[in-house]
Amino acid sequence: MCIDCQDTPLGLSTKRIYKVALVGLGNKGYLYEKDDKMVASFKYSTHCQAIDAHPRFSLTAGCDIDPQKVEQARFDYHFTFSGCDYRKLFNDVDIDLAVVATSTGTHPDIIRYALDAGIRHILCEKPVSTDLASTRDVFDIVDRCRGDLFVNYWRFFDRSHQWVKRVIAEKTLGDVLKVCCYYGKGVKNTASHLIHLFLEYFGEIGWIKKLTGASSHASGEDPDIDFVFGTRSGIVGSVLHIPNDDYRIFEIDILCSRGRIRLADGGRGIELFGRESNSTLTNEYQLSRLGKSLSPTAGEAMFDLYSFIANVLDSGMRFVDYRALKTAELLDHLIRERESTSKLDTSKWN
Ligand SMILES: NC(=O)c1ccc[n+]([C@@H]2O[C@H](COP(=O)([O-])OP(=O)(O)OC[C@H]3O[C@@H](n4cnc5c(N)ncnc54)[C@H](O)[C@@H]3O)[C@@H](O)[C@H]2O)c1
Repeated sequence: MCIDCQDTPLGLSTKRIYKVALVGLGNKGYLYEKDDKMVASFKYSTHCQAIDAHPRFSLTAGCDIDPQKVEQARFDYHFTFSGCDYRKLFNDVDIDLAVVATSTGTHPDIIRYALDAGIRHILCEKPVSTDLASTRDVFDIVDRCRGDLFVNYWRFFDRSHQWVKRVIAEKTLGDVLKVCCYYGKGVKNTASHLIHLFLEYFGEIGWIKKLTGASSHASGEDPDIDFVFGTRSGIVGSVLHIPNDDYRIFEIDILCSRGRIRLADGGRGIELFGRESNSTLTNEYQLSRLGKSLSPTAGEAMFDLYSFIANVLDSGMRFVDYRALKTAELLDHLIRERESTSKLDTSKWN
């Protein structure tokens, strides 16, 4: 299934180059790289860009139901194979990795077809599907086929976010005491990224509770929900929605016993605070910024994602992003749950 690349000038061992079929040449697959604001924020904003730049992958095939997008992307990326029917492509072309970047509702059928066609390595855009039942079906079939399923919750692959994970795991700033977050633009769209990251940083989530937000799942829209959660290890966190009409926000504040980690600007700004003696009170401490912020690598996360995939494929080990399944389960619970705070009616107080 793979071709070999040339020996490097240093005579290092040959590395396999994995052949990729990209299905979905919309924003995330291809078009974001034509958007000036995206280009300014992300070095790699699309799968086309990241695959093309990565030395371990070749963008062998491109597919979209829209022939104009196929033509435009083929002009830029010179796919060996292209077309509007992923079934034909999966059957006819020798592919190592199928990347699914189509509209969310189409993901399950495309993943199922790729596995049936013998492609064992799948990268799917988040979320895996629109509802929990079909998400579970996808994970079942991936397991039955002994396939890999990578899901692009991109912060999971970003070096800065991985560094934060190490600070937490190694207790560099002590124990985590509390987590406070703000997000905008819908619980499924945005808070899903937070939940996936909590699972990575803090381990299993033991409970999750809605405070406010729409309780109906039927509308199909993405509700704005405020919620609290607790991890099995005893960390409690709050996640508050801020209306996106006012401004865009995605922040995580991790308060630790000897400092604080603050992820701002969607993860592009990561600041550390340390504990120092309080200037006026004895036996008390205050937090102060520790030097300069961590250099942001979030814009390169999609490249890191492909490096991660190359390492897994090289190792021959399986990787399935069960955190993405857990995220879907927790979101489903949150969306269905009725608002659970009992509110005091203070109007009767004198
Ligand atoms: N990881 C992230 O942070 C992130 C960010 C943006 C979007 N996404 C996800 O990426 C996916 C795509 O989103 P988008 O914004 O690029 O949408 P989009 O509508 O811009 O692109 C989707 C493309 O898929 C094509 N398509 C639909 N059905 C198809 C089929 N059966 N075969 C081939 N092509 C088909 C459409 O023609 C379109 O070009 C969604 O699942 C979305 O949730 C993830």
